[in-house]
Amino acid sequence: MSRFPRGFVEDSSMEEPETHLRRPSICFRPINPSDLERLEQIHRDLFPIRYESEFFQNVVNGCDIVSWAAVDRSRPDGYSEELIGFVTAKFVSAKESEISDLIRYDSSKGEETLVYILTLGVVETYRKLGVAKSLIKEVIKYASSIPVCRGVYLHVIAHNNPAIRLYKRMSFRCVRRLHGFYLINGQHFDSYLFVYFVNGSRSPCSPLDLVVLAVNYMRSGIKLVASKLRMKQEEKGLKGVKCKDNRRCLLPTQTKRNLASPERVSSGYDYV
Ligand code: ACO
Repeated sequence: MSRFPRGFVEDSSMEEPETHLRRPSICFRPINPSDLERLEQIHRDLFPIRYESEFFQNVVNGCDIVSWAAVDRSRPDGYSEELIGFVTAKFVSAKESEISDLIRYDSSKGEETLVYILTLGVVETYRKLGVAKSLIKEVIKYASSIPVCRGVYLHVIAHNNPAIRLYKRMSFRCVRRLHGFYLINGQHFDSYLFVYFVNGSRSPCSPLDLVVLAVNYMRSGIKLVASKLRMKQEEKGLKGVKCKDNRRCLLPTQTKRNLASPERVSSGYDYV
C-alpha cells in the first residue's frame, strides 16, 4: 500500500483511543478462525443481506472458500490483527457458471474455473485509502496464477455506486444487468454482473466480442418480444380468475425471485 494520505484521520469513532494521526500500515493475510466474530460483525454492519453461520464457518476454515483479510498493523496491541477489510471468494466451474457463454475455452487445459467474489468490504474509517483495490488485486493475482482459471466475476447491487466505480476503475467489465436478482426485505433489486478475464480468456474488446455482443443483443430482443406475447396470452387465459390483491397474484410463469417485475421476467437479464 503506497498512497495513504499524510496524517491519517483523526476520528473519534475509531474504537481504540490511541488511534490519532497515525499512518496505517495495511497488511493482507488469509482469514482464520480467530476472525470469526469480527467477520460476522462487519458483514452485519455492511450488507443488507444476512449470511448463514455456515458461510462464516466455511470462510474462517477455508472450506471451499478463499479469503483475504486486511489488518492495520499500526494499531495498538489487541487491534493490530483485527479485520478492517476482507474479500471472500470461491471457485466455480467455468462451463457451469452463468457466464459460460462469455468464456474462451482452451480444450488442452481440462476443467476450467472461475473465481467468484462472494463478499468484499472495508470498515468505514478505512475507506478511500485503496484497501478494497488492494484486496481485489490480491484476488486477480491469485486467479491469474492458476492456469485453468479464466476470470474473476461478481454481482453488485445496481445502486452501489462506490463499488461499481471501484470495479470499473479496476477494468472489470460490466456484462449484464440481472433484473430482480436480490430480494431484500421483500423488495427486489437489480444487480450488475462484472467480469475480469485472466490468462488470455478474452481480450478487452476483440472482434469476437463485438459479434457475440450483437448476437446476444438480438437474442435478448427476440426473447423479450416472445415473452411479451406469451404474457399477453397468459393474461387472456387468466381473465375470469379472481384475486383479492393483484400485487400478490402470481402468474403461472412467475417465480418468487422475479415477482417484482413481471415485464422483466422474460429476459432475466440484459447484456450491457
Ligand atoms: N486518497 C484518496 N482517495 C483514495 C485513495 C487515497 N489514498 N485511495 C483510493 N482512493 C479513492 C479511490 O479513487 C476511490 O474513489 P471513488 O469512489 O471516487 O472512485 C475510493 O477511494 C474507493 O477506492 P478504495 O479505497 O479502493 O475502496 P474502499 O477501500 O473505500 O472500499 C468498498 C470500497 C468496498 C465499496 C467500500 O465502500 C465498502 O465496504 N462498502 C460497503 C460494502 C460494499 O458495498 N461492498 C461491495 C459489494 S459488492 C460485493 O461484495 C461483491
